[in-house]
Amino acid sequence: MDVATFEWIDTPAFVYDERAIHRLLDHTAPLRNDGRCRVLFAVKSFSFAPALRAMASRLDGFAVSSLYEARLARSVIGDTGSVHITTPGLRGNEADEIGLLCDYLAFNSLGQWEMHSARLQSRVNCGLRVNPQLSFADDCRYDPCRPQSKLGVPLDDLAAVLGNGPSRLDGVRGLLVHSNCDSSDFRELRATVEQLQVQIPGLLRQVEWVNLGGGYLFEEDGEPCGNLDDLCHAIDSLHSQFGVDTFIEPGSGLIRAAGYFVASVLDLFQSGGATVAVLDTTVNHMPEVFEYGFQPDVMGHDDDAPQEYLLAGCTCLAGDLFGAYRFPETLTVGDKVVFSNAGSYTLVKAHTFNGVALPAVYALTTGDELVLKSSPSYAEYAARWGL
Ligand SMILES: Cc1ncc(COP(=O)(O)O)c(C=O)c1O
Repeated sequence: MDVATFEWIDTPAFVYDERAIHRLLDHTAPLRNDGRCRVLFAVKSFSFAPALRAMASRLDGFAVSSLYEARLARSVIGDTGSVHITTPGLRGNEADEIGLLCDYLAFNSLGQWEMHSARLQSRVNCGLRVNPQLSFADDCRYDPCRPQSKLGVPLDDLAAVLGNGPSRLDGVRGLLVHSNCDSSDFRELRATVEQLQVQIPGLLRQVEWVNLGGGYLFEEDGEPCGNLDDLCHAIDSLHSQFGVDTFIEPGSGLIRAAGYFVASVLDLFQSGGATVAVLDTTVNHMPEVFEYGFQPDVMGHDDDAPQEYLLAGCTCLAGDLFGAYRFPETLTVGDKVVFSNAGSYTLVKAHTFNGVALPAVYALTTGDELVLKSSPSYAEYAARWGL
């Protein structure tokens, strides 16, 4: 695939590649096929319903983090899969509907468990999110196990409850750990599981399921990465030693490499020795570029190419910049610029600062057609602002 694939579409646009989605799902097939583990997709990373529909038949369900995501996921999957929720933001007035929509719920704290479990247990398979207190992510903003983490019951606390008053945990039927971000090293997940096995074996004997979360990639730079043997070892040891079923709920791993942002060059000028190319998109369509401070991948960029441009977003924010890129040919107004590996945490976080419209969404189908799936309207924008 190259920039020419996207030549005729209206920009700014987000394109998801159905073939790439299937290729990413293929990585999980061996886990599902022999019934080793059930695979969910974390809707928080990408929520576009037509694409979720295309994925659903190759998944066991969806993982969600709010009532709205639960409604969306249930509408997409119907009764052909399960919906699993964990959130630090569980609201009392939403709990009943969540109980109707979701099959599994991992409470984020012992307080939540005590507040809500009695009324939900008859309808939902309830468990706890555990903070395994084993950090791998370099950036603490993305580390669920950071000091003073708000995500899950710390393992030490669970071990203490098990030692002193285990009846507090009566009725807990499952555990969820999600403790990494963009890792391709499944040894880290294996170490996380070993940490649970050493510290809370009694609770593992009590529960029916363990959800190993997301945070791991199956491909990097277009190549398979990570050694699934370590994941399989972790899953198998949970099954053989404790008799529990396992789930995984990747987000990025199943969508990042399947998404593209397509923009057009609006303006070109010199500034302080750089050639600035203003695009009809903005970092606000991919907020993690700004938030995380990383430079997204751009098709055709080559470190050794002669033409350098500072790719800039079109809002008033001075720091609305994608970074410096080099291309073999000069850019002209109207040319397309395509950001790749942009499937996860982009569209779901995009906003309309400065009134810049959200991107249109296209599917690149398995039949190699580009099909418009949704286009943003002024009416949606105006309604949001009370007009
Ligand atoms: C509980 C939980 N599960 C799954 C995911 C998906 O993670 P990723 O997209 O990194 O695979 C997240 C991401 O924040 C999460 O918080």
